[in-house]
Amino acid sequence: METVDDPRILNDGDVILKVLLTTTCGSDLHLLGGYIPAMRAGDVLGHEFIGEVVEVGSEVRKHRIGDRVVVASFISCGKCWYCTTGQFSLCDNTNPAPGITEALWGQSPGGCFGYSHALGGFAGSHAEYIRVPFADVGAFPVPEGVSNERAVFASDAGPTGWMGADLGGVQPGDTVAVWGAGAVGQVAARAAILLGAERVVVIDRFRERLDQVERHIGAETLDYTRTEVIPTLRELTGGRGPDVCIEAVGMEAHRNRIDGAYDWIKQQLRLQSDRPTAVREAIMAARKGGSVFTLGVFGGVVDKFPLGALMNKGLTFRGAQQHGQRYIPMLLERMQAGELVTDHFATHVMPLEESPRGYEMFKTKEDGCVRAVFVP
Ligand SMILES: NC(=O)c1ccc[n+]([C@@H]2O[C@H](COP(=O)([O-])OP(=O)(O)OC[C@H]3O[C@@H](n4cnc5c(N)ncnc54)[C@H](O)[C@@H]3O)[C@@H](O)[C@H]2O)c1
Ligand SMILES: [Zn+2]
Ligand SMILES: [Zn+2]
Repeated sequence: METVDDPRILNDGDVILKVLLTTTCGSDLHLLGGYIPAMRAGDVLGHEFIGEVVEVGSEVRKHRIGDRVVVASFISCGKCWYCTTGQFSLCDNTNPAPGITEALWGQSPGGCFGYSHALGGFAGSHAEYIRVPFADVGAFPVPEGVSNERAVFASDAGPTGWMGADLGGVQPGDTVAVWGAGAVGQVAARAAILLGAERVVVIDRFRERLDQVERHIGAETLDYTRTEVIPTLRELTGGRGPDVCIEAVGMEAHRNRIDGAYDWIKQQLRLQSDRPTAVREAIMAARKGGSVFTLGVFGGVVDKFPLGALMNKGLTFRGAQQHGQRYIPMLLERMQAGELVTDHFATHVMPLEESPRGYEMFKTKEDGCVRAVFVP
C-alpha cells in the first residue's frame, strides 16, 4: 500500500469518481505473476469498480455529481471505427503507448484501467478516487435497488462472461461447456442459460465454486480432478461434444495431468509465456463444427496448440478482451430484474488497507474466496 496523489480532471470528457467498491480479477493474478509486461513501481491496480461521481469535465453530458455509476474496465473513445461497430476493447484511440502491444501482437487494443503500461498506464481503482476518461462512453448509472456488491460485477466479469456466450454463438437448445468457475466463468454459464442453452456444464476443481454454480447459476458441474472431462462431455451429448466451449481460465491454468505439468515447466523456464491447458482441452472437447471462445487472458505464444483439431473439426475459434460498453446497460437491467445474480462472488469484503491479504486469498482460493472486494 502506498499513498498517491488524488487524480484530477485532465480532459473535458473525464469524471472523477469516489470509489465505492473495487474488486480483484483473475487478470490481476497474471499481472502479479509477472506474465504481463510493463508494470512499474507505484502503478495503481484495479479495473473492476463502482463509484460516486464527485467531479465532471465540461464536456460530460450524461453524469452529474452524486450519481452512482459502474465503469467498463476497457477505456473506449466511442467514435473510432472499432467503437462504432461495438468492438469497444479494440478502440484505436485510448492506448497512448501502443508500442509494446504492437510489438507483441501486431496491433494494440484499447487502454484499460490499472493494467500496466502495455495497456495505457491508466491508474486503477484500488484507490479512494479514480479518473474516468470518456465517461459518457464508459460509465453507466446503476439502477435503484441494485446493490453495490451486485453492480460492481457489471464492470468486467459480467460483460466478459456475457460476451463469451454471445460471441461464442450460443443458440437455443445448445449444450455449452465452460472451463473455470470464477466470476467470469459463472457469468458465461448464466448468459448461456439466458440465451436459451439447453444444457450448461461448468468445469473446475474447487468445490465451493462448483457449489455456487449449482446454487446461484443453475448449471451442472464437473470436477476435473475426479472425472475425465472429454469423455464425460461426450457422454452428456450423445457422443457429439458441446456446441460451444467457453474458456474462462487463462494463462495460469492448473492441471494435474501430464500436459499441465509440461505447460507449467515450460512457462517457468520462460520457454512459453502462457499455459494453454484449458484451451487445448476445450478444442479437443468441442463437437465437429462447434465453437470455442477464450475469455481467459493470454499474453504471448503457446506450445502444442491443437491446430490440426481446430482445422479438421471445422471449429470456429475466437477470443477477445471484453466489449463492456455494449453489454453493461442490459446486464444492469437483468441484475435489477434478478435474472443475473452476482453478489455471491463478493465472498470477502474488506478495507482497501487489507488488499495484500485479499490478493493472497484470491490467488490461493483460500476459504472459498471467489473475489476479494475492497472498500477504500
Ligand atoms: N477477456 C476479458 O476481457 C477478461 C476480463 C476479465 C477476466 N478475464 C480472464 O478470465 C479468466 C478468469 O477470470 P476470473 O476472475 O474468473 O479468475 P479466477 O482465478 O477466479 O478463476 C479461474 C478459475 O479457473 C479454474 N481453473 C484453473 N485451471 C483449470 C483447468 N485446467 N480447467 C478448468 N478450470 C480451471 C480455477 O480453479 C479457477 O476457479 C482470467 O484469465 C482473467 O484474466 C478476461
Ligand atoms: Zn478483469
Ligand atoms: Zn474508440
